[in-house]
Amino acid sequence: MGQRRSGSRWQSVLLAAVAVLLATAACAAAQLSQNYYASTCPNVETLVRGAVTQKLKETFNAAPGTLRLFFHDCFVRGCDASVLIAGQDDEHSAGADTTLSPDALDLITRAKAAVDADAQCANKVSCADILALAARDVVSQAGGPYYQVELGRLDGKVGTRAVVKHSLPGAGFNLDQLNKLFAANGLTQTDMIALSGGHTIGVTHCDKFVRRLYQFKGAPPQNSPAMNLAFLRQMRQTCPLSYSPTTVAMLDAVTPNKFDNGYFQTLQQLKGLLASDQVLFADRRSRSTVNYFAANQTAFFDAFVAAITKLGRVGVKTTGSDGEIRRVCTKVN
Ligand code: HEM
Ligand SMILES: *[C@@H]1O[C@H](CO)[C@@H](O)[C@H](O)[C@H]1NC(C)=O
Repeated sequence: MGQRRSGSRWQSVLLAAVAVLLATAACAAAQLSQNYYASTCPNVETLVRGAVTQKLKETFNAAPGTLRLFFHDCFVRGCDASVLIAGQDDEHSAGADTTLSPDALDLITRAKAAVDADAQCANKVSCADILALAARDVVSQAGGPYYQVELGRLDGKVGTRAVVKHSLPGAGFNLDQLNKLFAANGLTQTDMIALSGGHTIGVTHCDKFVRRLYQFKGAPPQNSPAMNLAFLRQMRQTCPLSYSPTTVAMLDAVTPNKFDNGYFQTLQQLKGLLASDQVLFADRRSRSTVNYFAANQTAFFDAFVAAITKLGRVGVKTTGSDGEIRRVCTKVN
């Protein structure tokens, strides 16, 4: 009896120790904090915001470009600015798409220069954190929510080579494919829908949705939810069969330059351009969330903030030799 008791006591001590160890490991894996630069670069938020404000005054395109850059950075090797590393295998040169919007890259380059021009901050702030802050600032300056950004990411030392294609969602993805990829990054279906709301600003090229506009011989559209007929006709004018590779259309036809819940209303009107967008309304499992966000912008903003905060934790490097503070955001030190 006594022995059994002391046995179970030992057991609980052991269990507690294991729990503490596990908790420590989990923390060490992702220890970000909002005031990470409080002593090393207290002005970091102001410096980044200044660069963002200036760039957006010159061109609004930098806003969607920067938000998308952050998303791709986090899904490819974790939020470590590896998406910024230039080279023959980077996402842009690989011809994947125009993700590395020159305007977004320029915005990050300028923000980095602004941070490093402050003597106290020079070489202390990672490109990954600058990108996370810039993404918040473009969202907020485009009319979206303002939120506190967790900081403390290190920059990765490896480029995006070869992993890009398997890490990012495709415009033809159905709900199961979307959920699977987002779940692999620790994000729920609600997170995925809220983050898709990032398509409330920005554009897409014709090649990403042209298969929804025409019946191509021998290539039936794998996933093409219904499209509003008048809108479809209009889009055929924008993207004729002989469309130019540089022609673009707004992802949110309702309010293209405003970060609001118009994207979800676009989906309700069957005017989503990407199949992966329209499927969120077409599939009954996600439709109620789309309707909820379309009706309640506050609920969308709250969900977006929660989801982008989780996105910002994906695969972050905070300690050890796999990370560094990059001197130039497009190059490993
Ligand atoms: C859910 C899966 C997603 C898919 C399949 C997807 C796909 C795409 C595609 C095909 C484009 C157009 C690219 C082009 O033609 O140039 C695009 C643009 C964009 N995406 Fe996504 N995306 C997804 C999620 C996200 C997320 C989570 C965000 C950020 C929160 C985001 C932000 C953007 C933005 C802002 C643009 C416009 C870029 C610009 O105008 O420069 N996307 N996306
Ligand atoms: C909208 O959503 C917010 C946040 O979830 C909630 O507090 C509010 O009650 C909702 N408003 C309506 C009219 O449902």
